[in-house]
Amino acid sequence: MCGIVAYIGPREAYPVLIKGLHRLEYRGYDSAGICLLNDDIRIFKCKGKVSDLEDYVAGKNTSGTIGMAHTRWATHGEPNTINAHPHFSQNRTIALIHNGIIENYMVLRSELKNRGYIFTSETDTEVLVHLIEDIMISEQVAVEDAVRIALNQVIGAYAIVILARDSPDKIIAARKGSPMVLGIGKGEFFVASDATPLIEYTDNVVYLNDEEIAIIERGKDLKIKTIRNQSHTPYIQKLALSLNEIEKGGFEHFMLKEIYEQPRSIFDSMRGRLHIDQGNVTLGGIRDYEQKILNAKRIIITACGTSWHAGLVGEYLIEDLARIPVEVEYSSEFRYRNPVLNEDDVVIAISQSGETADTLAAIDLAKSKGATVLGICNVVGSSIARATHAGVYTHAGPEIGVASTKAFTAQVAVLTLLGLLIAQKKGTIPNSRFQKILLELDSIPAKVERILQLNDKIRDIATIYKDVKNSLYLGRGYNFPVALEGALKLKEISYIHAEGYPAAEMKHGPIALIDEHMPVLFIATRRGIYEKVISNIEEVKARKGKIIAIVTEGDESVKNLADHCIEIPDTEEMLIPLLATIPLQLLSYHIAVMRNCNVDQPRNLAKSVTVE
Ligand code: AGP
Ligand code: GLU
Repeated sequence: MCGIVAYIGPREAYPVLIKGLHRLEYRGYDSAGICLLNDDIRIFKCKGKVSDLEDYVAGKNTSGTIGMAHTRWATHGEPNTINAHPHFSQNRTIALIHNGIIENYMVLRSELKNRGYIFTSETDTEVLVHLIEDIMISEQVAVEDAVRIALNQVIGAYAIVILARDSPDKIIAARKGSPMVLGIGKGEFFVASDATPLIEYTDNVVYLNDEEIAIIERGKDLKIKTIRNQSHTPYIQKLALSLNEIEKGGFEHFMLKEIYEQPRSIFDSMRGRLHIDQGNVTLGGIRDYEQKILNAKRIIITACGTSWHAGLVGEYLIEDLARIPVEVEYSSEFRYRNPVLNEDDVVIAISQSGETADTLAAIDLAKSKGATVLGICNVVGSSIARATHAGVYTHAGPEIGVASTKAFTAQVAVLTLLGLLIAQKKGTIPNSRFQKILLELDSIPAKVERILQLNDKIRDIATIYKDVKNSLYLGRGYNFPVALEGALKLKEISYIHAEGYPAAEMKHGPIALIDEHMPVLFIATRRGIYEKVISNIEEVKARKGKIIAIVTEGDESVKNLADHCIEIPDTEEMLIPLLATIPLQLLSYHIAVMRNCNVDQPRNLAKSVTVE
């Protein structure tokens, strides 16, 4: 992961870089560093967060109008000051920041060691900076050529920025597999892992493609070359992102803000796609591939984490509505297990960030086997959005909290639209039922709004359970993925062990865990196999487990059994995940806050996992 940002122009670089690092901190936050360039290269770095770096730098000379900065999520080498980026070359003539993994770093490292290079860090990154310096010296070439030659020797993923002492008006940046965007202002340039650090300065951006190198010089036009030395004309796009969208807007945490944004984000994910008047659904982004999807013998959904849970809801939905067999695969498994794939298959990759390395690799694999690959991504212009043949953006807006909330509901909304679209075109659903679901879907944002009003009640429940060590989340049918997602939310931000399970599977093992200390969260809404879920609740009650239940408004049966009930509005069974997930997000949030956990930046995690 890691966040990188760089600046060259008339402004003082330090404030621009620090502000940029704060915005990118969601990508990693175990150490941070900054590099400023005047007559000399100055590097300041330390273990900890960007605010620790600010404290460390206070009172030191931070002047300079060219610089770069990094916030790290360690892959190689412990998170400490020495391993923090930027890294210096042996003669301190070059500094480099990196996001990604150099897979062949051991080979390169031992070659460089043999040539007398001394390594100070345990990172894979350090080989790059020595290698570039070595090439500059041995081949007597400019820094950009040395970078190009070096990158031809590298296996792995990188987004890198390089500053060289002897080129004080130049930034070299390059990428492969890790994201990088360039901002072009008036007489100034920005480089960053995503567009958030440059948003208030310019809306002209260039997304660097794999194996491209940007040569950015003060007072000159941007130049782009490939690592094979071909020139590319920069493709400048307009950025559609506002400052408001990336700030907390009065909420204590981004996660809470994002939970509360869901009535709007779900609406936005369906805007211009769900047409109540015409009684149909359109998805412009995949129009050219519609026939391919309708003819698909099989749909394979690939994703990680929360996006995988959305995929599971998608499986139930698409099979239910469109009668096409669907398989849901963890990208990390799919990419390595030689799956059977052919040209009649449609693969759907789901990703909030659009940068998840495993999902990108799964896409490459699927494409190499001739499958049609569609993306469901939140981040516009992200690597997955560009690597897929076509796709649908979720339009949930930037999600900053590491725990995914609004992206999940937007993914589910888009999958619902997709299921409906295929079903209508294939004729696998009676029109009256189709129209009924359409109307119900349209009413979801207002129902989410009503659920958010239960916040105080949910906070009260959180107070009772904030100190538990374990918990079980159970659901059946469409509520099984909800149980998985609820459990993931709790464990990732509160560090309480939580397991999601199909409610009926409980009796095949997890039931052994139940005693009077075990809270069991049931999603027991009044649709589907509700009666069966009640039997499962009875089984837990008989063993004295504590029962918290998400139920349909007006429910009486579960109320008699549960210790606490959270009532949500009724809806079509397949749309329940869009509602039932919300109270679980709030519950996890409050428990994590009460346990003094860092809700937006939980330990060991990062927002986009650009390493495998
Ligand atoms: C969700 O709360 C997680 N932090 C994580 O599981 C996430 O969903 C996963 O890493 C996938 O990310 P993506 O959607 O950006 O591909
Ligand atoms: N591999 C580099 C390191 O460990 C960069 C990490 C990353 O991008 O996540 O420092």
